[in-house]
Amino acid sequence: MADLFSEFELKSARLKNRIAVSPMCQYSAVDGVANDWHLVNLGSRAVGGAGLVIAEATAVSPEGRITPGDTGLWNDVQAEAFRPSVRFIEQHGAVPGIQLAHAGRKASARRPWEGDDHMPADHPQAWQPIAPSANAFGANLPREPRPMTRDDITRVRESFVSAAVRAKEAGFKWLVLHFAHGYLGQSFFSPLANRRTDEYGGSFENRARFLLETLASVREVWPENLPLTARLGVIDYVEGEQPLEESIELVRRMKALGLDLVDLSLGFNTPDVSGVPWGKPAFLAPIGERVRREVGIPVAASWNINDPRIADELIRNERLDLVMLAKALLADPYWPYHASQALLRPLPEQLLPPQYAHWLKAR
Ligand SMILES: Cc1cc2nc3c(=O)[nH]c(=O)nc-3n(C[C@H](O)[C@H](O)[C@H](O)COP(=O)(O)O)c2cc1C
Repeated sequence: MADLFSEFELKSARLKNRIAVSPMCQYSAVDGVANDWHLVNLGSRAVGGAGLVIAEATAVSPEGRITPGDTGLWNDVQAEAFRPSVRFIEQHGAVPGIQLAHAGRKASARRPWEGDDHMPADHPQAWQPIAPSANAFGANLPREPRPMTRDDITRVRESFVSAAVRAKEAGFKWLVLHFAHGYLGQSFFSPLANRRTDEYGGSFENRARFLLETLASVREVWPENLPLTARLGVIDYVEGEQPLEESIELVRRMKALGLDLVDLSLGFNTPDVSGVPWGKPAFLAPIGERVRREVGIPVAASWNINDPRIADELIRNERLDLVMLAKALLADPYWPYHASQALLRPLPEQLLPPQYAHWLKAR
């Protein structure tokens, strides 16, 4: 029976355990170029023992950044800048992954600690966001996006493809397409965001089209032996969203196009998050279990999986294949080590580098 510290193999990626660092924007790049902060941030979590370390939502084009501090992969300098992080993560026995993203109507914002809101249109660093249709997100992100033309759709899809090629060249071994959190991919799929009347809006088939076309195009360039995954916002917990059955059907269609794993998250297509069961540990796990069973694809999920006993139970009972941790790993890069202690396990082989393991294994 697999548990939290069991290996996980997907294509040629071999994770030493089921603990993944969920992608986390650092808003600390200049011109989309990663720097020492990214190396130390990602590297610390690799040293801490996570099996998979996924670099933050990285913009496929300049207008796809959430903030001016986002990392990017629209040029070769940006790809080169990720190499030290990739090398370090691999040297410490973790698999290096990256998430490719386009922020859609949520783009052109200030960093969370500077307000987390849209920069005014006349701000020197602001740019025009684009989205499926002209309706704004609302609340702190009121700026009306420019509705995308067919040429925009083709261009952004091609940007995902070029960024995937650069991710491969930088050495990443695991790719995540960001189809969650109200960013571009998600907002094509959600009827809360997409008001188009052409073949990219309206019916399920039409709302799914951008995501499926993007996935299929990326699959053509991303090596067959490496995992191609997507983070999908399966639910918003608000009226007017797509039925859960549609989200599950979308995963089924993505699997048919070569998706290797789906990572479930929230939709965040509206500022109203009052229906989200925040306090409930692992609240997306029941949906994960369902997707795993009904679609037959490996499933990861995040949100509130902070307790090692719950994380272990999710793997043991085959409810999830991987647990994605964010804030718990921000607070404690050594969460995997502390989890092994809480679960009364001997220190798993290779969890920590010998410089640390030698001193800690007897405790
Ligand atoms: C600082 C921070 C940055 C984040 N950036 C991203 C991101 O780049 N991409 C993404 O898909 N989710 C992002 N998230 C969401 C997390 O990956 C995760 O899904 C969420 O925090 C729930 O997991 P948790 O309960 O373990 O924190 C971010 C979360 C935090 C706290």
